[in-house]
Amino acid sequence: MDTLDTLQADLLATIAAASDSAALEEVRVSAMGKKGRITALMGDMRNLSPEERKARGAALNAVKTAVESAIEARRAELKTAELAAKLEAERIDVTLPARPESLGRIHPITQTIDEIVAIFADMGFTVAEGPDIETDFHNFTALNIPPEHPARQMHDTFYLPPDADGGARVLRTHTSPVQIRTMLKEKPPIRIIAPGRTYRSDYDQTHTPMFHQVEALVIGEDIHMGHLKGTLLEFCRAFFQIDDLPIRFRPSFFPFTEPSAEIDIGCARKGGEMKLGNFGDWLEIGGSGMVHPKVLENCGIDSTKYQGFAFGMGIERMAMLKYGIPDLRTFFEADLRWLKHYGFVPLDQPNLAQGLTR
Ligand code: PHE
Repeated sequence: MDTLDTLQADLLATIAAASDSAALEEVRVSAMGKKGRITALMGDMRNLSPEERKARGAALNAVKTAVESAIEARRAELKTAELAAKLEAERIDVTLPARPESLGRIHPITQTIDEIVAIFADMGFTVAEGPDIETDFHNFTALNIPPEHPARQMHDTFYLPPDADGGARVLRTHTSPVQIRTMLKEKPPIRIIAPGRTYRSDYDQTHTPMFHQVEALVIGEDIHMGHLKGTLLEFCRAFFQIDDLPIRFRPSFFPFTEPSAEIDIGCARKGGEMKLGNFGDWLEIGGSGMVHPKVLENCGIDSTKYQGFAFGMGIERMAMLKYGIPDLRTFFEADLRWLKHYGFVPLDQPNLAQGLTR
């Protein structure tokens, strides 16, 4: 028969040798299960005298406790080892390059906005934002477009129910209200661009009820139209990546700028094809001008001390020209084949150092 010492030594050795939780469980059952070796010895005690039973019971309990705590310790060890093995087996190499195909595509509008932001950021502009749902004040009145002004008709405005205080609300018809919000909030010098969604009730080959504009606003003490033209020239050449792309101002009218000018860039039209560059023909890409003194005053800026310029351009048009996308409406049809074709690989953030598009 086992002496208790050899029984304990034997069990402890088997426990230490158990290589996984299942093996360890087998050892536990073989010692303390119904037919286990310790259980059997406990059963045998019923034939002993009360004194003998007391001594034997204490000795057996000591063995049992030692075995139990050895099992517990081994179980914890095995658990740690099993977890480590699992982690090792499921290890992910985060240094592997991502597979961008599985991440979908960047929409040309998003890409174009990122490119525009990268160029203007390089020129020291920050990005400003405003809400799509605007007050009549920010969208029109503060921009020197009073009620009944004919310019309101030109905007095909979506009017919304008035707010709780009866204030008129619209879906912004241009990004120019961000000029107002910026000037009300910040002191000159100001140098911002504001890309975003705009809305007009219009739908045909060249108009969608939602489209995008980018606004620029510069306010300072000696700002003049030369700065406006220089900024536009720099921007257009960087954006279209054409070093000698010419720019032309055409006299125009906006209530919020004086003087006002339409912005044209050089192009050639041959056989229904459009090519950008110094070819003698012209294409309009936006509106611009010197901020009207009344607009400055509406925003609490001293128009005898400060001047500024502003311009607004259509982002879809810029994207269509740069990337040869023929139809405006396809931008918003959410056709995955179109997006696969015209979309951009994620993770390639446009920046001037590495090139806008790769
Ligand atoms: N907001 C004008 C438009 O949508 C464009 C513009 C912006 C003109 C800034 C002048 C200055 O047509």
